[in-house]
Amino acid sequence: MKPISLRKKLTLTFLMIALLSLAFVGLFANVSFGKQFEDYALSRLNQTIDKTVNQVTDLYVRDGEKWDIASLDETGMAMLIDGIILRVTDQSGLVVWDAQVHNNGMCIRILENMAQNMESYQANFQGGYEEQSFPAVVNGKEVGIITVGYYGPYYFNEADLQFLSSLNRILLIAGAVSLGACVLLGAYLARRLSKPITDVIAATGRIAEGNYSDRLTHAENTAELVALSHSVNSLAASLESQESLRKRLTADVAHELRTPLTTLQSTVEAMLDGVWAADEPHLASCREEILRLNKLVDELSTLSRYESESLRLDTVVFDLQELCAQTVHNFEVAARQKGVSLTCSWEAAVVSADRDKIGQIIINLLHNALKFTPAGGSITLETRCEADRAIFRIRDTGCGIAPEHLPFIFERFYRADPSRTRETGGSGIGLAIALAIAKAHGGEIRVSSNVGKGSEFVLSLPIKQ
Ligand SMILES: Nc1ncnc2c1ncn2[C@@H]1O[C@H](COP(=O)(O)OP(=O)(O)OP(=O)(O)O)[C@@H](O)[C@H]1O
Ligand SMILES: [Mg+2]
Repeated sequence: MKPISLRKKLTLTFLMIALLSLAFVGLFANVSFGKQFEDYALSRLNQTIDKTVNQVTDLYVRDGEKWDIASLDETGMAMLIDGIILRVTDQSGLVVWDAQVHNNGMCIRILENMAQNMESYQANFQGGYEEQSFPAVVNGKEVGIITVGYYGPYYFNEADLQFLSSLNRILLIAGAVSLGACVLLGAYLARRLSKPITDVIAATGRIAEGNYSDRLTHAENTAELVALSHSVNSLAASLESQESLRKRLTADVAHELRTPLTTLQSTVEAMLDGVWAADEPHLASCREEILRLNKLVDELSTLSRYESESLRLDTVVFDLQELCAQTVHNFEVAARQKGVSLTCSWEAAVVSADRDKIGQIIINLLHNALKFTPAGGSITLETRCEADRAIFRIRDTGCGIAPEHLPFIFERFYRADPSRTRETGGSGIGLAIALAIAKAHGGEIRVSSNVGKGSEFVLSLPIKQ
């Protein structure tokens, strides 16, 4: 099925809600108003009947003890125009005045007219001629029977029907106007809601094409849409940094490989051309470069092994302080030769981990600290337990790391020194290996640094419970 656009869907939904509520309000208004109007017509009819009986009773000439025929004639005709068919009989049952006798044609016409009116109001209206009889009582004495005939159970006259139809017309116009307003408002709201989403789609499309610097700058006040824009922006930012890292990585790898290969090439060529003799010192220099290349490949394969999901850990329970003390011991000579002092503060921190691999982390961190700390500097090492973590902290007074490099130093081949001089050795893999091992143990390495003042690396591992 072809997907429908959000905008179309929202507009249709608004339209449907508007139609439903209008239909509901219209139906409710119609039914309840119709019922009220019927009640009104019924009570109006009853009032007319009461009034008729009183009025006709008043026409009995009390002194003469007889009905005033002339007045009955006049009143009866006036009532007939209002839809009331009057019949008066005297005490003995003799008809005194009867509208149907007086003008039967008009009576039939009036009843037909009413039936027509009611049918135009309601196609299957159940109505017909009805009559009620009342005794005419004068001075406590019954003087005859007044029979009031009408179209029942109730009827609407022309004015009523006109009123009803104009009411329906007003309801219809109001409905049409509010429906139009709903459609316009719905379309506007649908556009407003879908626009930022369309923008996000366009932006993600541009990002997918590789324009990682693209950012969404939508001034929105819908919380979810603001969050969506932020997510897309941070996604783009992370892709941008990954992309630049990837480019840098390729350049760094090329550089790492080029240096030993160039040295090898020139040495071998010089020997082939007979410029240099193929003697031991020259061959040893070639071997050194080959060893350097081999070390690089080894480190890379170690790293990929450590980063793989299936890394096997030979877990044993041991005290981190004892491992650290032993490792630091191996660095004491090198530190003394460089003129860097080592200060240790050990506290017990028992962990369950792969001893050799944790030892590798400590070696890599210590190696860096020593490498980047000039003579006269100091390195402080410490182990301790903090909450449920075993902590190894190493602080140096070396060159420090600039904030722009700090987020990337754990990336493979990343070196803060862009010239990648050989004096500081290294290929930029040590920290990547250290972090991979820490992560495999459910631990982490945090770093903080001040350029010119020194750096601090903190390894934290879960302690043995
Ligand atoms: N203690 C430190 N002081 C200053 N800079 C540091 C320190 N530790 C790491 N760095 C910076 O982080 C970069 C990456 O460190 P990492 O250990 O991964 O690589 P490396 O030491 O250059 O090479 P490798 O460890 O592979 O021999 C270093 O090149 C350096 O710029
Ligand atoms: Mg290193």
